Amino acid sequence: SRQPLVDQFQRRISYLRLSVIDRCDLRCTYCMPERQTFLPKSEVLSLEELHKLALGFIGRGVRKIRLTGGEPLVRRDMIELVRALGRKLGDGLDELTITTNGTRLAEFVDDLREAGIRRVNVSLDTLNREKFARIARRDQLPQVLEGIAAAREAGLAVKINTVALKGENEGEIGDLVAWAHGAGHEITLIEVMPLGEVEGDRYDHYLPLTQVRSGLEQRFTLTEDTHRSGGPARYWHVEETGGRLGLITPLTSNFCDGCNRVRVTATGQLFACLGGREQVDLRAALRSEEPESALEAALDEAMRIKPARHHFEINRPGAEPALPRHMSMTGG
Ligand code: GTP
Ligand code: 5AD
Ligand code: SF4
Repeated sequence: SRQPLVDQFQRRISYLRLSVIDRCDLRCTYCMPERQTFLPKSEVLSLEELHKLALGFIGRGVRKIRLTGGEPLVRRDMIELVRALGRKLGDGLDELTITTNGTRLAEFVDDLREAGIRRVNVSLDTLNREKFARIARRDQLPQVLEGIAAAREAGLAVKINTVALKGENEGEIGDLVAWAHGAGHEITLIEVMPLGEVEGDRYDHYLPLTQVRSGLEQRFTLTEDTHRSGGPARYWHVEETGGRLGLITPLTSNFCDGCNRVRVTATGQLFACLGGREQVDLRAALRSEEPESALEAALDEAMRIKPARHHFEINRPGAEPALPRHMSMTGG
């Protein structure tokens, strides 16, 4: 049944977030613990399997693929995958893109651009080197800034992703917006989500974007922008900078009605919702006797089980994480 992917709530799934590796060269405190254990390589899908999987999704109407991690550029054959998928642009695929922490971006911008990538999302929570080293637990701000600059020079559009963190980057968000827009980037702020155990209590760092927006309105004039990028962000136009600001508000304003995406881990587990346990084993399908029909059936199953919404909750101290897995498993 090579029908478009539509779930039981009539949501059309056109966006695949495909994690190519669970490993990362940073250890952001809100994302994972310092001593995170990673998967053995044997568990991770091969280049051929990732390619086959992506083609299966494109065959069912997926038009946008975002490669994620962990950190996707840590995977050795990442560029080969990007090249292979880049050949589907204009032939089923409208957009191929990545979400990266930027540490290795400078090295790969030309390859990404040549393969057909036009836009990259780069995670960056602070412009202060000491603060970066504290949040990411690695002193890599200069490399990230170099990666962002290289991306722009190569002609890629850059969107900065900033997780709003109380007591960490709280006082710096206005400056981050001004900096990003001044350099010609978009910037999107994200509410921290309770995924997996980390060292501290997430509540201590949870900063509702309703509050951040009021703070920004002391300095900037924000007007609603109808732009949509296909992701969960809602956009605002910042009059003083002329730039675009995105807000991703899983906690303060649910956006699940418009969900158009599923994510697949580097081991081929499809998660129907970032905030749910509903899962389908695509690797088993790919490695079965009849991989093609098994994959089709698995995707049909995913559409049957996709839940209406997540049930994240973070606004009380000591709350258990909503889910055992970390963001680095599904890439968001
Ligand atoms: P655009 O194509 O630029 O819209 O990107 P995107 O926002 O879809 O992707 P990106 O990887 O930049 O993700 C930004 C943030 O949005 C990350 O923290 C993701 O975890 C989060 N995000 C993406 N999809 C979902 C979703 O379905 N639900 C929730 N709760 N968060 C999501
Ligand atoms: N909550 C919100 N965002 C998170 N990210 C990682 N972990 C979390 C979390 N628990 C962000 C990263 C990156 C994006 C893919 O997800 O900073 O920008
Ligand atoms: Fe790595 Fe991204 Fe997690 Fe930071 S948020 S540790 S960059 S996977």
